[in-house]
Formats: sequence, C-alpha cells, structure tokens
Amino acid sequence: MSEDDIELEDLNGVGAKTAEKLREAGYDDLMSIATMSAGDLGEVADLGEKKSQKIITGARQELDIGFESGKDRYDQKKEMKKISAGASNLDDLLGGGVDTQSITEFYGEYGSGKTQIGHQLSVNVQKPEGEGGLDRDVIYIDTEDTFVPQRIEDMAEDQGMDVEETLDRIHVARAFNSDHQMLLADEAQDICQSEDIGLIVVDSLTAQFRAEYVGRGELAQRQQKLNRHMATLLRLANSHNAAVVVTNQVMSNPDQMFGDPTKAIGGHIVAHNSATRLYLRKGKKGKRVAKLVDSPYMPEGEAVYNIEDGGIKDA
Ligand code: GTP
Ligand code: MG
Repeated sequence: MSEDDIELEDLNGVGAKTAEKLREAGYDDLMSIATMSAGDLGEVADLGEKKSQKIITGARQELDIGFESGKDRYDQKKEMKKISAGASNLDDLLGGGVDTQSITEFYGEYGSGKTQIGHQLSVNVQKPEGEGGLDRDVIYIDTEDTFVPQRIEDMAEDQGMDVEETLDRIHVARAFNSDHQMLLADEAQDICQSEDIGLIVVDSLTAQFRAEYVGRGELAQRQQKLNRHMATLLRLANSHNAAVVVTNQVMSNPDQMFGDPTKAIGGHIVAHNSATRLYLRKGKKGKRVAKLVDSPYMPEGEAVYNIEDGGIKDA
C-alpha cells in the first residue's frame, strides 16, 4: 500500500466530519496535514491542540517523513503501554509486558507455546489498565487454523472475565495464503478506525510464506513480501499505539540439517522488523522457558513459566 492510498480518514483521530472540514479548507492530502501547525489545524478543523498535534504526528508517520523532533519522539514513546503475558517472570523479562508501538516476535519449535501466548495476550489486553491490560480489543490473523475459542473461554474464565464479551472483542480472520494474509493486514487498518484495537496477533507470521516460496530462486521475493507485510504491521502499531505480536517457527526440518536448529525463519527481515524477540522452548518437568534474544532496552535473560488449563502462569 503506497501513501497515495491513505485517506485523511485513515489517520487516527480524523473522523468523517473532521475530514470534510479539512477538505473544504483545501487540506486534502497527508502532506498538507503533516506540514501544518497544531494551531492552524485546530482552527481549520475545530479541534483541540492536543488532538491536532496527534493527527499531525500520525500524518508524518504515515508519510515516513525522515525527521521528527526529539520532543515528538519523546511524546510518542511516553504513550507506550505494556500488556501482561500472564506470568510475572515473563513480564519481568520484558520489563513489564509486551510493548505497544513495536513488533514482538515469539519463535520456537512445534508445541513450544507460541499460540498459547497469542491467546493469552488476546485475553489480557482486554483487562483494565493497572491489571495488565489496556481495556482494548484484538485483531487476530490466524494463518494455521489454530485459533481455539475454547482456549479463550478457559483463559477468560480463569480471570473472572465475561466469556462472550471477551470472545466478541477478538476480531479473528483466517488467512488462506500469504497474499490473503497481507490483505488482512491492510484491512486491519480499517478495523482500527472503527474499533479500539490495542493488540494485533499474527500467528504464524511466516508459515504461509514458507510453504509457498520454497525454492532458492524465490527467496528474495519472499523476503520482499515479508518486509512489506511487516511494514504494514509496524505502521498499525505506531499509528494506533497498539502491540503487534507475531509468531515464527524455527528451521528444525531435516532438509535444513546443516542449519542452526534454533534459528528463526525469515532471516534478517523478520529479525530487523521485530524490536523484541523471544525464543520459546520446553523446559524440565513440563515447564516452559522463554529467552529474551533481542530487546530495545532490557538485558538478555530467561524466564520459566507454565502453560496450564487457565493459561500462562507462574512456574
Ligand atoms: P506450532 O504452532 O505447532 O509451531 O506450536 P506452538 O508453539 O504454537 O504451540 P502451542 O502454543 O500450540 O502449544 C501447545 C502446547 O500448549 C501443548 O503441547 C500443551 O502443552 C499446551 N496446551 C495447549 N492447550 C492446553 C490446555 O488446554 N491445557 C494445558 N494445561 N496445556 C495446554
Ligand atoms: Mg501455533
């Protein structure tokens, strides 16, 4: 999706009425908004200064304008929130939980618990702020048909939450192939306009791409598409102060026998686009271990936790 496809209404904080006022005043594209002052925008669209500034910042982000002031960056980062992953060890490892405004990648082998974490975060983000959540909804892009409403029910019940409401607040779509998956991420931008989305889960980020682009000759194309897909996701994270959580497999199949079996699929593209990366594995006595491999500000380390009927719990 190029910036030409982005309408005024796609900006966070711009509803139909505001867009109309802006267009009437001749501000009909993102660049004209991005270069306005908050005072001018406030006057034209009859908005408060804080809201105007937010819209301007959003337009600048969509346009990927190279420079932003340290203050803009600081103000945006100050808004960053955390979602509890369910176990205090895991949250501590992450410095409080999964961040908004960036992509967090959970990778690991078959059965290591990636999907369980995606489910748990989808429940937890709905909890009130101060209780590990953001009181916001979820978009769940399910590429392997492994979204299980019953698991959401178990986890919600365990937290004393209303099961139906919890399920209602998760907007699930099954992706049938990689193009469909990318399309769903584009469509997620529309959902983010009408619903208050605090978390976008893509489980699995790479499985469809891996299945479709098998030959060596197709690798570059696969990586380009993955890069575009992740750029869309990152834009959602930034423009809606949402967390993006993606899961990824490791290269443990026999045809990769000379590769590192704990290496994530998707190579540099996925690694570079994910600010925070955790490697999940099975530990002793049924326990689970998460290793923080990459983080913008937390040291490397490990956390031990359990997967129980009620969800992700302290070990
Ligand atoms: P792939 O998608 O196949 O790569 O695996 P994954 O990493 O997504 O694994 P997943 O999250 O599906 O984890 C599966 C594991 O979670 C199972 O082996 C169980 O140990 C655990 N699990 C799943 N459901 C339940 C449940 O209802 N109760 C309990 N106690 N554990 C569960
Ligand atoms: Mg899974």
